[in-house]
Amino acid sequence: MIPVHVAIIMDGNGRWAKKRSLPRAYGHKQGVKTVKKIVKAANSLGIKVLTLYAFSTENWKRPENEIKALMTLLKYFLSKEIDELAKENVKIKVLGDLSKFSEDIKIDIEKACKRTCDNTGLKLNIALNYGARQEILYAFEAMLDQGIKKPTEEVLSSFLYTAGLPDPDLLIRTSGEFRISNFLLWQIAYSEIYIVDKLWPDFTAQDLEIAIKNFQKRQRRFGSIVLENSKK
Ligand code: IPE
Ligand code: IPE
Ligand code: MG
Repeated sequence: MIPVHVAIIMDGNGRWAKKRSLPRAYGHKQGVKTVKKIVKAANSLGIKVLTLYAFSTENWKRPENEIKALMTLLKYFLSKEIDELAKENVKIKVLGDLSKFSEDIKIDIEKACKRTCDNTGLKLNIALNYGARQEILYAFEAMLDQGIKKPTEEVLSSFLYTAGLPDPDLLIRTSGEFRISNFLLWQIAYSEIYIVDKLWPDFTAQDLEIAIKNFQKRQRRFGSIVLENSKK
């Protein structure tokens, strides 16, 4: 079975640039090219939801020039790449606290989401200024505002940025780091995790297929057991 929802921690742009003695911004630029390729590949593989971790709530700690380069790339992506994605029937959504972004970026995000909102192909979620802890805190704030004091798991889920979406089946992290870095903490409770050494700019459609093949060999148990004579 093809995973319905794939989430990716796109890590390693800086190391990719460093290996080539280039400024980190070059790595991010190359990373955007990979995003395009992987979105197309995911769409044609029949993945329904792809969630990409693009900028964390902690990434603001980076030097100003790197943040600036990332914002310029984000603007480029939202304005110049959107035509192609729209044609591919991709539906774009942004997960995260957008209040920290500049007005022009906020407008571009809104435009990109509006323009693709009726598309029926791949649901592409871009996590921007996203932090799972912040997401859960916001959810509690919003629930308390609505007088919900004892939420069920379903109710809490419906207050997250990912409301209405299934939890990720497969979580991929590039660049070999064995950590989650504050990504989708609630939603990945039973996701299969796949960590690959390749740096994000080097990650290809074929690597995505390899990750999926690996996922297909896993036995998901969700806390239960598999009986001897039952089918896998
Ligand atoms: C991921 O690549 C992109 C962002 C976090 C914005 P990094 O920039 O973290 O690359 P490394 O981990 O330093 O190689
Ligand atoms: C995680 O990568 C965030 C994104 C990919 C956007 P980081 O590079 O920020 O994570 P750490 O600092 O290595 O944990
Ligand atoms: Mg990193």
